[in-house]
Amino acid sequence: MTRKKVTVVGGGFVGSTTAQRIVERELADVVLMDIVEDMPQGKSLDMAESAPCIGFDSAIIGANDYSMTANSDIVVITAGLPRKPGMTRDDLLQKNAEIVGSVVDNVAKYSPNAILLLVSNPLDVMTYHAWKRSGFPMKRVFGMAGVLDSARYRTFIAMELDVSVKDVQAMVLGGHGDTMVPLPRYSTVAGIPITELISAERIAAINERTTRGGEEIVKLLKTGSAYYATSAAVLDMVESILLDQRRILPCCVHMNGEYGLRDVYCGVPVKLDHEGVAEIVELKLSSDELAMLHRSAEAVRENVKKLNY
Ligand code: LAC
Repeated sequence: MTRKKVTVVGGGFVGSTTAQRIVERELADVVLMDIVEDMPQGKSLDMAESAPCIGFDSAIIGANDYSMTANSDIVVITAGLPRKPGMTRDDLLQKNAEIVGSVVDNVAKYSPNAILLLVSNPLDVMTYHAWKRSGFPMKRVFGMAGVLDSARYRTFIAMELDVSVKDVQAMVLGGHGDTMVPLPRYSTVAGIPITELISAERIAAINERTTRGGEEIVKLLKTGSAYYATSAAVLDMVESILLDQRRILPCCVHMNGEYGLRDVYCGVPVKLDHEGVAEIVELKLSSDELAMLHRSAEAVRENVKKLNY
């Protein structure tokens, strides 16, 4: 059996660590694609030369030419400018829309049957943009944000209670930005909702830290944004797709009436199988939670309008 093929567009920190995680797990052969000459080839050769020590047989090659990405099963799009300190994700909107638009044109041409997994910011807007631009069915165009935001939430909950992260599950909905919606009622430690374990005051502080999780890293790094947790979150999604795991993960998907939302991309739990989004899972939300989700979706919609859709 031949291996699956994953293309990662963008050879920066997010793209290259994503490529590394995929080949180290032997989930697929990987093409690392970037417009910068020689850089993706250099990183890919370096990773290939790590294989004897790490012990993996998946191939990784660098490319500057989209023809080498042909017939990919999944294309992870990380291309775009990262956030600098003081910059919001939305400042990136226009610039990254140009970059992502041209990436999607090329990808759709060479891999018409691929699943597109968006990572570029502002995430929800870029995912909508990629869906429109590709003309692909919505089950094959979605974005990674909720898994990262939930991973941060899980980390902070584990720190708060001094327990293993393995026992912590958490759910964060909404857009990937200041309006994201952490859901304490649906976040648990060994099955126990955190509302039973942590005071309301501390939960509010943890929610706030989660919402600003990306910013916290940007402030520390000074010259870029998060990539270890980002690439790990992409890996969860890629693995669920390639291994047909049907995991329930919060992803940025096209809403078609679910949660009372329509024609907008927004983070909600979905079942991910080999074809992409198998179904959207509708949680029972309180009126407050639903209002926050709608506010978040509206913020995404406002930004999508700036791209003249
Ligand atoms: C983050 C930014 C990059 O959440 O969106 O880390």
